[in-house]
Amino acid sequence: VAVETLVYEGKAKRLYSTDSDQVLLMEYKNSLTAFNALKKGEFEGKGQINCEISTLLFRELKKNHVSSHWLETVPPNKMRVLRTKIIPLEVVVRNRIAGSLAKKFKLHDGDLLQKPLVEFYFKDDALADPFVSNEQIECFGWATREEIRQLQTMALQINQILIQVFHQCRLNLVDFKVEFGRLTSGEIVLSDEISPDSMRVWDAATGERYDKDRFRLDLGDVKTGYNEILQRLKLALGGLQ
Ligand SMILES: Nc1ncnc2c1ncn2[C@@H]1O[C@H](COP(=O)(O)OP(=O)(O)O)[C@@H](O)[C@H]1O
Ligand SMILES: [Mg+2]
Repeated sequence: VAVETLVYEGKAKRLYSTDSDQVLLMEYKNSLTAFNALKKGEFEGKGQINCEISTLLFRELKKNHVSSHWLETVPPNKMRVLRTKIIPLEVVVRNRIAGSLAKKFKLHDGDLLQKPLVEFYFKDDALADPFVSNEQIECFGWATREEIRQLQTMALQINQILIQVFHQCRLNLVDFKVEFGRLTSGEIVLSDEISPDSMRVWDAATGERYDKDRFRLDLGDVKTGYNEILQRLKLALGGLQ
């Protein structure tokens, strides 16, 4: 008998234990937050939309031999995932200038970078997710030098695949955040989610923003934006099978 008990409730998801030690059930909630949880909101269907987008992207990454925690999706808004020990880093990949990078260096929003940039931030809301250097990560014991290289390589590989996918959707992938975790074997796999909560995607022709910046900056109906991304992905990738 599967007894599912809540093991963690975060800002956008809940994790439940399952009858297998190795497997967690991840539920996508309708809530969304910004500015390290200072701004809060929600909309009906958000959990399902994000779960479906995450599913399509994890499936595409799997096809391209990127190992992740994703096992299967349990509609409408849950997925079974491998339990990992999360590395406490937000691994950010940027193709264009936006958000905190534009602010910090007074650079122009939307400008292309010379090459994709991978950055590490310490995942800690109370500290506002501070930037952390490779050397700090090593010295704090969060990851070895080799593991850091692997995180960078995997993040760039994921970026190339996602760029292609969104290109087919006439969307520009500006940047995104991923999390990685370790399986009991020590293998590092992509974990958490890939959704409009954790990326910037702009219409390739008009520059319209369909991601969480709509919510952060009050740029229009958030559900309409998230749904636009989902519908374009479904068209390009052929639905949830
Ligand atoms: N496969 C996994 N195993 C264990 N924990 C995970 C896994 N994937 C993601 N997580 C963690 O589960 C939580 C997901 O819920 P979320 O609402 O995003 O939380 P948070 O508010 O901490 O970002 C995150 O803390 C994330 O690091
Ligand atoms: Mg999160």
